[in-house]
Amino acid sequence: MKRAGDGMMCLRAHAPRRGRNDVNSCRCRARGQEPDYTATICPAFDRTPQTRTTVPPSASPASAVEYHHSVPTPIVPTRVTGITLPPFDPLNLRAAELRQQGRHVISLGQALPFFPPPPTALEAARTALDRPEVHRYSTDPGLLSLRQVLAERLGSTVRAALGPEDLIITAGANHAFTLALMTLVNPGDEVILPAPYFTNHQMAVAALGAIPREAPVADRSQFTVRWSDIEPHVTRSTKAVVLCTPSNPTGATIGAKEGTRIVSALAERGIVAISDETYMSFVHDGESWSAASVDGWRRNVVVVGTFSKCFAMMGWRVGFLLGDDAVCEQAVKLQDAMIICAPVVSQMAVEGAVRSSWSYASTFRDDFLTRRRIMHEAVGAISRLQWTATPGGLFAFVRVDGCSDSDALAHQLLEQVGVITIPGAAFGTSGEGHLRLSYGYASLQELAEAMERLSRFFA
Ligand SMILES: Cc1ncc(COP(=O)(O)O)c(C=O)c1O
Repeated sequence: MKRAGDGMMCLRAHAPRRGRNDVNSCRCRARGQEPDYTATICPAFDRTPQTRTTVPPSASPASAVEYHHSVPTPIVPTRVTGITLPPFDPLNLRAAELRQQGRHVISLGQALPFFPPPPTALEAARTALDRPEVHRYSTDPGLLSLRQVLAERLGSTVRAALGPEDLIITAGANHAFTLALMTLVNPGDEVILPAPYFTNHQMAVAALGAIPREAPVADRSQFTVRWSDIEPHVTRSTKAVVLCTPSNPTGATIGAKEGTRIVSALAERGIVAISDETYMSFVHDGESWSAASVDGWRRNVVVVGTFSKCFAMMGWRVGFLLGDDAVCEQAVKLQDAMIICAPVVSQMAVEGAVRSSWSYASTFRDDFLTRRRIMHEAVGAISRLQWTATPGGLFAFVRVDGCSDSDALAHQLLEQVGVITIPGAAFGTSGEGHLRLSYGYASLQELAEAMERLSRFFA
């Protein structure tokens, strides 16, 4: 029998989900069953399809396999078919099914803040609706007034002299990250991801035809990224290193001394640092550091940021790319080809908050500390779970003693106690054996209830 991951799909009725064919889409093991890989591979679900297939609409999954006939051409290249969707999707779908069946499911999955957007953003959006410009495109890099005020605020936060020409307003941080990659990295180049890494970073690198290189952090007691983690993975083909501070999934931050060392060492080697600072407003302990605060950062740093988290405006889709104006001048061509500009009503809303509520997220610091404490105490009382104290983010990356399949574990937790967690393996092989637990979104009551359920599960 073939193993999952060899291109086989489980034939049981619950899988594959939404046409996916990987071990994450099969929930047999979560239910204590062996997956059923006994039939011939269905080429429609092959990770590296050589043929396209058609299936009679009435065919059952098993008979469909027999009825396939081939038509030429793989239409989707392997750099895309090889990408695995993160496990959030099947977990959330299953949670929705369970909720429909009347189960009370609590999510410790999504890394969202519990607070609403700042009123200044909503007010600016209301006003924007009466302005004719809201219905038109803005310039490609975004509204000049927004970039001006953002350059000022960001400049004083990261202690760098910035101008509006150093910024491109994007449709969120993921878009900014992809834009940075497309601008700076060629297919075939290697991109180093200190790990555990943010899943979407790895996906974007692979989608571009570049080669993601996982660089596990040596410091497992704090997950701090050091130059010594990165250096052994540098080759002649290395084009970029992705920093993420505070890190998703660990919450670890990069300190000024080590960060400067990393950025400078990369600059000497002509390697770009793409620094995702999505959680820059969520550093709960100690100082926050930005790669743009390094002297000479313009040589090799691009910072990716967002208003999704600090203003809780995930659905508005606004973020930014910060880089030297020469980089922005090139990146803006790709922005034009991709989306022309970020949604204008959203840019206007965000501008209201950047002007009047720049430090909004910090007013909730005590709430996050309380939530983190509740989770920390509960984790501390569960002997199989090991807490790692990190200074930032909205989540904890918790080691589970004896766990070698965090994906199966996350599904078991959902099925048996109705709690959504994110398997550590989603963040690279060095994340295996962990679960990411978000304390950012659930209410205090739900958080306590979820931890009580985990404690029952692991008893
Ligand atoms: C590290 C990191 N980067 C980027 C994103 C995506 O943010 P956005 O909503 O701005 O695209 C997330 C979302 O969770 C994230 O955790």
